[in-house]
Amino acid sequence: MVEAFLNVPRHPFVPVFYREAGGVHRPRRDGEPVWLREVYADQVLVTEVDGVPAEDAGAGGVNGVPTSSSTLPSLMADMLDALDVRPGDRVLEIGTGTGYNAALLCHLAGAAVVTTVDRTEQLVATARIRLREVGFEPAVVAADGAEGLPAGAPYDRIIATCGVRRIPRAWLDQCAPGGLIVAPIGGAVARLTKLPDGRAAGRFLHRPAAFMPLRSGPDHPTRAPGMRGERRDSRIGARVLDDPGFSFWAGLHLAPTVVRHGHVLHDLADGSAAYPDGSSTVTLTGPRDLWRTVEAAHRSWLDQNRPRREWFTIEAGPDAQHIGYTAPDGTAISWPSGC
Ligand SMILES: C[S@@+](CC[C@H](N)C(=O)[O-])C[C@H]1O[C@@H](n2cnc3c(N)ncnc32)[C@H](O)[C@@H]1O
Repeated sequence: MVEAFLNVPRHPFVPVFYREAGGVHRPRRDGEPVWLREVYADQVLVTEVDGVPAEDAGAGGVNGVPTSSSTLPSLMADMLDALDVRPGDRVLEIGTGTGYNAALLCHLAGAAVVTTVDRTEQLVATARIRLREVGFEPAVVAADGAEGLPAGAPYDRIIATCGVRRIPRAWLDQCAPGGLIVAPIGGAVARLTKLPDGRAAGRFLHRPAAFMPLRSGPDHPTRAPGMRGERRDSRIGARVLDDPGFSFWAGLHLAPTVVRHGHVLHDLADGSAAYPDGSSTVTLTGPRDLWRTVEAAHRSWLDQNRPRREWFTIEAGPDAQHIGYTAPDGTAISWPSGC
């Protein structure tokens, strides 16, 4: 693993990336004094905002939501470690992005057995060129990663570098029995082993993992709705969601149709939204008080002595997914997730 990072440079994959200040993303280019230092720092490098690659951004920048990036290197390392790639393993990556992670996979498995997909022709064409420049020619394909890539199946290893609520059935079908799936779910990284009966089961890594979501089907709104509605006091403020342990727990209690924009919660099903602030008040809109669910989840999280992500199990089948937790007193709790 260390050897892969020592041998595969990051800079050819990020000649331009965005730096955000005051909500505006401005390009940082190869040649600027801090560029190289930032490339080799342990930080996320955003490379596309609202579909605009950093290369195409003018000096005025872009105001929008990141849609592609080079992941935090230390998180990439933990995910690759969990993926346990051996030479010759057939690997599928969902979320090519810059191609840097694909290059590390090529180093570990061999380029001939690596396939990587992303959602646009432009993204994959750029990544393909950069991979070739560093000496790798894996299959780089424009496709909806939610469908996997049946042509190359079965895969021994499947890794997603965009978040999902539920392991898609296609990934289960395309993973070889005994193979591994590593994917971000609910702000954590799940590592599952494919079972002979078609399901996959596993646990979560200890570290938090904020990933941009896998975008599939009709586009989800990427921005929070405008703040309006009734304001009320709350026992807890927005900050509780900054605790990755609680954030994971809260996600288990919120409906799968609830999306988060920073601290703002928005239920796509009925339009309800909650805008908590730092001073323990919350503004609510729509038919349901979403923040009540978070308050109740916070109480139960404290009652359960703040369970940590790595204590949870996950079981994914073609038709259902469950996340489970066994409390110290032996009580087992299970949540259907991502339905
Ligand atoms: C964090 S970036 C990937 C980082 C990348 N592995 C790297 O090393 O640069 C997440 C990527 O997931 C991609 N993505 C989102 N939805 C997708 C989908 N339905 N199918 C394939 N890729 C998708 C985004 O376009 C984005 O490039």
